[in-house]
Amino acid sequence: MLTPKVAVAVCTLLTLTYVDAITDEQGPLGRLSTAVINAAGLLTRLVPRYPNQQGYTKEENEFDFIIVGSGPSGAALANRLSEEKDWKILLLEAGDEASPITEVPFLCGALEFSKYNWGYKAEKMDGFCKGCIDGRMEWPHGKALGGSTIINYMIYVRGNRLDYDRWESMGNPGWSYKDIFPYFLKSEDAHITQTVKDAGYHEKGGYLGVSDVPFRSGAVDAFVQAAQEAGYPFVDYNGKSQIGVSYVQTNTKDGRRVSSESAFLRPIRHRKNLVIRTGSHATKVLIEPRSKKAYGVEYVRNGKKYKALARKEVIISAGGLNSPQLLMLSGIGPKRHLQKVGIPVIKDLPVGEKMYDHATFVGLTFTVNQSIVHKIQDYVTSPESYAAFLKRGAGPFTQIGGVEALTYIKTNASDDPDPTFPDVELIFIGGALSTDAGVVYRRLFNIPRRTYDVLWKPLEGKPAFQVYPMLFHPKSTGYIKLRSRNPLEPPKFYPNYFSDLENHDIKTMIAAIREVQRIVKSPGLQKFGAQIVDTPIPGCEQHAFNSDEYWECGLRSLIGSLYHQVATCKMGPAEDKEAVVDARLRVHGTKGLRVADTSVIPLPVTAHTAEPAYVVGEKGADLIKQDWGVL
Ligand SMILES: Cc1cc2nc3c(=O)[nH]c(=O)nc-3n(C[C@H](O)[C@H](O)[C@H](O)COP(=O)(O)OP(=O)(O)OC[C@H]3O[C@@H](n4cnc5c(N)ncnc54)[C@H](O)[C@@H]3O)c2cc1C
Ligand SMILES: *[C@@H]1O[C@H](CO)[C@@H](O)[C@H](O)[C@H]1NC(C)=O
Ligand SMILES: *[C@@H]1O[C@H](CO)[C@@H](O)[C@H](O)[C@H]1NC(C)=O
Repeated sequence: MLTPKVAVAVCTLLTLTYVDAITDEQGPLGRLSTAVINAAGLLTRLVPRYPNQQGYTKEENEFDFIIVGSGPSGAALANRLSEEKDWKILLLEAGDEASPITEVPFLCGALEFSKYNWGYKAEKMDGFCKGCIDGRMEWPHGKALGGSTIINYMIYVRGNRLDYDRWESMGNPGWSYKDIFPYFLKSEDAHITQTVKDAGYHEKGGYLGVSDVPFRSGAVDAFVQAAQEAGYPFVDYNGKSQIGVSYVQTNTKDGRRVSSESAFLRPIRHRKNLVIRTGSHATKVLIEPRSKKAYGVEYVRNGKKYKALARKEVIISAGGLNSPQLLMLSGIGPKRHLQKVGIPVIKDLPVGEKMYDHATFVGLTFTVNQSIVHKIQDYVTSPESYAAFLKRGAGPFTQIGGVEALTYIKTNASDDPDPTFPDVELIFIGGALSTDAGVVYRRLFNIPRRTYDVLWKPLEGKPAFQVYPMLFHPKSTGYIKLRSRNPLEPPKFYPNYFSDLENHDIKTMIAAIREVQRIVKSPGLQKFGAQIVDTPIPGCEQHAFNSDEYWECGLRSLIGSLYHQVATCKMGPAEDKEAVVDARLRVHGTKGLRVADTSVIPLPVTAHTAEPAYVVGEKGADLIKQDWGVL
């Protein structure tokens, strides 16, 4: 029988076999591995979970609300709005229903090579990624029913109290921490047993599974101990206070990925008033030019053009990169830019002109003298791994790409007056880029083979771990432009990392690198002879190892992103020259049109952005219900 469980088993085995064999950037085996993940998607055609949702009759073409995009925000909206039985909802999603293989947490890195990723790259710029292949970064973004939560790392972080309070103080009433907190609990179905859980901060019974990872390396225990010895309390970072160390809390349940699809859509897929159309790429929001009222969406499915009409509203939840694109394609954006690419201007707004992201450094590696780190080869070849996963949702396949602990620190480079507001997150990985022999993770960061061969190849087979410092509140900002008026062409992304004039972002990252070294010197890790790898990063040999100049060179050479792009359709009052939507998520100067997803988040959050995106969806649904008088 082709049950999902059998499918998961077969596909995991096949995928790992092939992924393991990938040798280089574009090798034939690499393509084969991608083909296997994609082919697994065909299984969903045999046993589709959404069999009755693709109806295309004429009568079905008018809806009350049309939502574009099924990531955390769009899925939460589709769920909550369709609670109103009298409202008819259309959810449009460019990607397909994802195969069960995506629910294996262990595969999260490899999924970036599948069809569930839009496959974007950032533009080449000075100042970062100098050592990357072609100087360009991969900028994955999810393309599936479930959006980026189909391919993301499942890290669950709500953010700091101050994040939300600052959104409110920027002129966005209703978005303070006090206002938002109930939505964290409303969504949550917490099954946290191994990390601390602050009383009153977690809830059971919501749609969104939250659990810790049942399988850990010995290295993470040593790191968590070392961090405490260095002065960090063991905390619930989703509780009272963030600063401190903790094992990671994740969007998983029974050892499997929880996506916005499995959490918010699957349980309600039989609702009669919710129509879900996958493989449907929205190309334009239809807006009446004089009244500026949105009345529908144009979309392409299997190469054919369709139109759907919205009696009440169109809500764009296409994510931090695609929502600004769709707005611009529809005539809403910076006037000069739209004119340049030949799009008639409906409303001049600063869409895509500001973009924050969370950058990280992937070049900080430590060795230990005992095998306390993850051993991928052993996991993949041991039948027990498969059995544990399939029978109990346990074992090594439940780990989320090696991310095991998070430490929230405030470096001595911080200029923020609030002592409870972390400026960097230290992401502990229970292995190194060498752990998978440079097969998957090296490629995610576009690190050339020759750099890998210098820095990580000598570590293959030896126990090593990495710590990625992630910059929470960058002063550098990027922007997005359309490549052309062709809606099927990817936009141009200019991240602009490490470009702020005072060099504050670099200084903060250097301070974080030094703080990591201080933690590693604590007894908990020295017990294992933990030592920094001091092989010079190629291109930085001229600087003394561990000098500020050395780390600046390294930071500008090797970089990763956590793909938390925000503020591209920034929320703020009409007086705010950077604002695109108001505090009720309505696009300024238009009617019947909202944006609800990470793109409205006005400042980079002290979090990973999935949970903030769920909250924007939950809160957005209540705003809409209030505005239509049903709440
Ligand atoms: C590789 C990766 C790892 C990540 N890891 C984490 C993590 O561990 N923890 C965390 O909190 N966050 C993580 N994130 C970020 C997080 O997943 C996203 O911030 C979050 O999913 C954003 O939600 P969203 O609703 O704004 O948009 P998305 O999740 O991006 O969803 C947008 C949806 O809209 C669809 N869409 C776009 N354009 C169109 C169109 N024109 N027509 C129709 N549909 C369209 C897309 O296909 C997609 O399904 C990660 C992201 C990536 C890419
Ligand atoms: C900042 O902290 C690091 C340790 O984390 C230390 O090495 C460095 O000297 C400190 N710098 C200043 C200016 O205090
Ligand atoms: C690892 O290093 C520590 C500290 O130097 C030492 O005490 C310990 O004996 C070493 N263990 C092994 C197995 O070499």
